[in-house]
Amino acid sequence: MDKDKVVQDTEKLVKDALMNEKSGHDWFHIKRVTKTAKEIADKEDADTFVVTIAALLHDLADDKVVDNEEKALSDIRKYLIESGIDHTDAQHILTIIQTISFKGGNNPPVETLEAKVVQDADRLDALGAIGIARCFVYAGKVGSPIYHSQLEIRENMSLEEYRNNNSSAINHFYEKLLKLKDLMNTKTGKELAAQRHEFLENFLDQFYLETGEERP
Ligand code: ADP
Ligand code: NI
Repeated sequence: MDKDKVVQDTEKLVKDALMNEKSGHDWFHIKRVTKTAKEIADKEDADTFVVTIAALLHDLADDKVVDNEEKALSDIRKYLIESGIDHTDAQHILTIIQTISFKGGNNPPVETLEAKVVQDADRLDALGAIGIARCFVYAGKVGSPIYHSQLEIRENMSLEEYRNNNSSAINHFYEKLLKLKDLMNTKTGKELAAQRHEFLENFLDQFYLETGEERP
């Protein structure tokens, strides 16, 4: 098996599939995640080939991208085997794809170093300036507002209850984005997350400064 050729073929497959994706899982998300994943793999001594292929394919079976996750996974399995990737690596790549997605943070922790690397790279793309851009694009796509004014929180309702019933782009920072830095698996991932997390904090400070409300 020619590993470079498999990487090139996989890039083409994913590019064609996700070029017009509109929920933040587009080809450029995949490109960034794959680049970051390779950088982390280098520093953490992970298997670069497994990390690269898993990063390229990581969103192709996500329920936000496909209607039928089972079928998408079985198509990926078929593709990996037909590409000549050995069975152990193919199974490893499939497991990574299945386990890394966030799903409310309730997934069992990822186990292999390569899975940890791809998950860190994917999470890093939800932080920093890019993460903020993706969050607002996603909110726009599903029809969520930018934020809810706290001044509108009804009496006798906690901020927590209010948030659970009122999704918004800013709410997503509290629900997920601000938690990610503590969920990083690798030392390199943690280092990269720190600066991007700081950017989110600064963004929220400025956002609430401009609204004239106290930041929650
Ligand atoms: P991925 O599969 O890339 O890990 P997700 O599928 O969870 O990420 O989300 C894709 C992008 O959309 C991320 O940047 C995420 O922060 C954003 N996103 C997901 N859910 C919401 C939401 N309810 N409101 C705003 N942004 C969201
Ligand atoms: Ni992703």
